Amino acid sequence: MDTQGRYLFDNDNPESAGQHRALSTLLDPLSFERLAATGVGPGWRCLEVGAGGGSVAVWLAERVVPGGRVLATDIKPGHIPAVDGLEVLRHDVVTDPLPESAFDLIHARLVLSHLPARDKVIQRLVAALRPGGVLQLDEIDISYWPVLLAPDETAYKLVESYQSTMGSMLRARGSDPTWGREVARAMSAAGLSAIDPVCRYETWTPGSPGLDLLVSNSIQLRDGFVGSGMTDEQLGQVREVMTGPDFAVTSFATYSVQGRRA
Ligand SMILES: C[S@@+](CC[C@H](N)C(=O)[O-])C[C@H]1O[C@@H](n2cnc3c(N)ncnc32)[C@H](O)[C@@H]1O
Repeated sequence: MDTQGRYLFDNDNPESAGQHRALSTLLDPLSFERLAATGVGPGWRCLEVGAGGGSVAVWLAERVVPGGRVLATDIKPGHIPAVDGLEVLRHDVVTDPLPESAFDLIHARLVLSHLPARDKVIQRLVAALRPGGVLQLDEIDISYWPVLLAPDETAYKLVESYQSTMGSMLRARGSDPTWGREVARAMSAAGLSAIDPVCRYETWTPGSPGLDLLVSNSIQLRDGFVGSGMTDEQLGQVREVMTGPDFAVTSFATYSVQGRRA
């Protein structure tokens, strides 16, 4: 079966709620800081693409009422809660229709990097913005992601193996886990102006949302890791190392990039 372009994770997986919780704790602070800087408020019309667990969509909906509206889309929208001002739609951003010149603000986080057609999708999102509207894309780059501290040599190697296997599994589906560094350039190519990229790094230690996310991913993607040559015993050891003492890793880079339609 050709799996190129098929999203690696799955909102129907039992671990998906844990994944979305960890993504929200890890990434909402930067997403919210940047979205707030757009001035989003009552009356705005917003689109949240690939809303996942819905934390950003709910945050936006709380800001745009009264008078505004948020449309939250996903190919599997079952985790998005129902709140005032929020409309939820099962929608594939690659193929399903989008209204033209309709939104003051469009946000997507960790969605376009998973889509081989990401450049075409940016063009579709630009066309869906009203003139003067803002597109914010929040993405990551895993190319610099060093393990800083582990209990012993075996642990360093196991975590590094987890990291490289994760990268390979993503690439095999047509995802680009380094795309964060390309976002500003892609927005420029799509004709946006006032492009404003921000990059953040941090250190993750046990109990941090970043390591909670990696542990959750190791559970959700267990079959893929095992199919790629890691054993259940090794995956268990990776989880132990990431939750035990004496472990630290530099986070992947997180990029939040805004651009404005002329
Ligand atoms: C890594 S999750 C990120 C979820 C959320 N944006 C966040 O950052 O918390 C990617 C989300 O994009 C959705 N997705 C994947 N392909 C999509 C597509 N073609 N159109 C719309 N949503 C898609 C997935 O179902 C999933 O909910």
